[in-house]
Amino acid sequence: MRNEHANADDMPRRDFLDTAAKASLIGVGAMTFIGVIQLPLPKVLNEPSGTFKIGFPGDFTLNSFATVPERNVFVVRDASGFRAMSAICTHLGCIVSKTEWGFNCPCHGSEFDGTGKPISGPAPKPLDWFRVSLAPDGQLLVDSKRKVGRDHVLVV
Ligand code: FES
Repeated sequence: MRNEHANADDMPRRDFLDTAAKASLIGVGAMTFIGVIQLPLPKVLNEPSGTFKIGFPGDFTLNSFATVPERNVFVVRDASGFRAMSAICTHLGCIVSKTEWGFNCPCHGSEFDGTGKPISGPAPKPLDWFRVSLAPDGQLLVDSKRKVGRDHVLVV
């Protein structure tokens, strides 16, 4: 119902407010519809699992050092067994590379000795070591969510 005492200048303002209210309702309705449609969809992050296979023990020669670049992990095999160490710098997360004396981070110059202990630069703590186990199919399994001490060795 319109106010009969309103002048002609009020009409465009009312029309504008009517249009704005309708647009708001349509917007709220659309957002609600989208929300309802998305409800049954899974909310899962497609990140790689923290546990991954790196191959069979026989794939690694004795006293070898291997890199698993797609997982940012180093695998060490010596006479005592297998170990896995993170290649992620403990400063700000860059990927370290192997050097003659240990590891070097290209981002801010942190250096780590062969055990992953920081020896210079801003890295506040050693590189992480991860649990290594055997999968049911006999492959080596690294669990990057389970940090262990450097002395953790998988004896095969
Ligand atoms: S991220 Fe490695 S030193 Fe900064």
